[in-house]
Amino acid sequence: MSDKYKLITPDDIYKNEAVHAYIKAGNQNLGAIGLTEHGFAHAKRSSNYARDILKELDYPQRTCELAAIAGYMHDIGNVINRSDHAHSGAMMAFQVLNNLQMPPDEIAIICAAIGHHDEKTAYPVNEVAAALILSDKTDVRRTRVRHDAVIDVDIHDRVNYAVEKASFDIDAKQKICIFDITIATDICPVMEYFEIFLERMVLCRKAAQYFDLQFELVINHTRLL
Ligand SMILES: [Fe+2]
Ligand SMILES: [Fe+2]
Repeated sequence: MSDKYKLITPDDIYKNEAVHAYIKAGNQNLGAIGLTEHGFAHAKRSSNYARDILKELDYPQRTCELAAIAGYMHDIGNVINRSDHAHSGAMMAFQVLNNLQMPPDEIAIICAAIGHHDEKTAYPVNEVAAALILSDKTDVRRTRVRHDAVIDVDIHDRVNYAVEKASFDIDAKQKICIFDITIATDICPVMEYFEIFLERMVLCRKAAQYFDLQFELVINHTRLL
């Protein structure tokens, strides 16, 4: 690496003051709108899962680190607006990473992944993008529902609240990945889960295909996809 550029690690990003401020503010904005948690817990989980997915599939260590960085930063665009947050987030990430003197070819991969993570315009354009889609879209959990949420009113809250268990596992040998969730059907019928998450699950299938994996969705012990 030339002197012009620096090796930026996931730890550098976890500790970065600007990234910290943007995740915090983005999450506050979504809270004001009444949307689920998109703060540090979601950022760290997305980071860990994106990295682990690529590790499991034997990608080089540096590619796994880029996925960890993209995962952590992917929702910072919520600072600007929920709408188009993938694109504004990619531009913000560019600014941060460019200031840190990350090499341009690495910035390009991360910005592509962040810019392609939101359902409406998502696409697994590279391995980091595919891993980010899978890590982001499989983060459904009760703790993402905010304390002041009225779950009878909002279907997203209800669906997240209803999730008792969720796991995402890759079986590289069998060429499958399984998203296995248990939901309390007295809180949310399986149909409601589908109503909101079908688009996300189709996207996960596309991301899995990037790795030549078959995506399976299991809800309450029944395979649905
Ligand atoms: Fe997002
Ligand atoms: Fe996200």
